[in-house]
Amino acid sequence: MRAAISDIDKAAGVLRAGGLVAIPTETVYGLGANVEDVAAVARVFQVKGRPPSHPLIVHIGSAEQLGEWVTVVPDTARLLAERFWPGPLTLVLRRGPRVPLEATGGLETVAVRVPDHSMALALLSAFGGGVAAPSANRFGSVSPTTADHVRAELGDAVDFVLDGGPCQVGLESTIVDATSETPSILRPGGVTREELEAALGSQVSVGSTSRVRVPGQHPSHYAPRARVVLVEPEALLTEVELAQEAGHRVGVILPPSLADAPVKTHAVVAVPRSMAAYARRLYGFLRDLDQLGCDLIVASLPPEEGLGLAIANRLRRAAGPRSTT
Ligand code: TXA
Ligand code: MG
Repeated sequence: MRAAISDIDKAAGVLRAGGLVAIPTETVYGLGANVEDVAAVARVFQVKGRPPSHPLIVHIGSAEQLGEWVTVVPDTARLLAERFWPGPLTLVLRRGPRVPLEATGGLETVAVRVPDHSMALALLSAFGGGVAAPSANRFGSVSPTTADHVRAELGDAVDFVLDGGPCQVGLESTIVDATSETPSILRPGGVTREELEAALGSQVSVGSTSRVRVPGQHPSHYAPRARVVLVEPEALLTEVELAQEAGHRVGVILPPSLADAPVKTHAVVAVPRSMAAYARRLYGFLRDLDQLGCDLIVASLPPEEGLGLAIANRLRRAAGPRSTT
C-alpha cells in the first residue's frame, strides 16, 4: 500500500517535533519516536507502560547507515545486514554516541533494524534520522498487526497513525546478538534460524548462551486478556470439554491435524496449513478470541522449525504466568 506523500511528510514532521507516530512495518506496527530526542523516547515508555530498563529497537533507512549508530560492525553483522535488510532481522551491536542511553535501557549495546515496508522506508528517508520503535501495544499485551489495532489500544496517545495495511509477516523481528563473530538468537522471529544458518554456513544457537543481557524476558508477554492454555493436540478436545464443563467461555486455536474434529465451543479459529499464514494471523486470532468474549484459549504448539519456532515462542509467552498486580 502506498501512502500519500503528504502523510509521509506529516509523519516526518511529527517525529521532528518530538511526537509519536505509529509506523507500519512488515512484522508488527511500531510506536515510533526520534531516537535522539530523549523526551520523545520517554513518552514512548510512558504510553506503553513499559519499564525504562527495556531497550527499544532503532529503525534506520538502509544497511549503509548502520555505522552511524554503532561503534563496531563485525564482519558477520555486515554479512547479515546485507543479506536480510530490509527485513525482519534486528542486530544487537555496540551502541554509538548518537543513541541515548534512555533508548537502550542503560545498555552499551543497541538493537538496530531496517524494516521491509514501503511506507516505513519512505518515512525513514523523509525523516533522515533513527526511529526508536517498540511494538505499538501496551506493555505485555498482543502486538498490533493492523492500524485499527493500534487505534483501539493506544487511541489519542499516538500523535499520528500511518496506515500501511495489515502486516505481512505478523510476528516481530528475529533479534540476533551480533556483537561477536558467533551470533546467537535472542528472540526468534520473522527470519528463521535455518535462514540465518544458511547465510552464515554455521549453526546458530537460540537463547541463553549470549553474554548480552536481554531485558523484557518476563514470563508473560504477547498475552491476550483470556488465559492461554497449551496442550498436546491429542489432549486438546478433552481439555476443551473439561474447561467448558467448568463454566469457561473457551476459544480454540485448532491445529491442522484436528481440522475435521467436531469441536463445539464458544469460538474456534483454524490454524492455516502454511506457517507463514499462521504467523501472519496469530496475533489477530488472539485479539479476535478476546473480542468474542472468551476467557480461556486452548491451543497446541506447532513443530518448532522454520517460523514455527517464533510462533511457539509467542504462544508460550502468551501462556506464561501473569503478574497478579
Ligand atoms: O519486529 C520488531 O522487532 C518490532 C517492529 C516494530 O520493529 N519491534 C519490537 O520491539 O518488537 P519491542 O520493543 O516490542 O521488542 C524489542 C525487544 C526488547 O524487548 C528487548 O528484548 C530487545 O528487543 N532489545 C532491544 N535492545 C536490546 C539490546 N541492546 N540488547 C538486547 N536486547 C535488546
Ligand atoms: Mg513488543
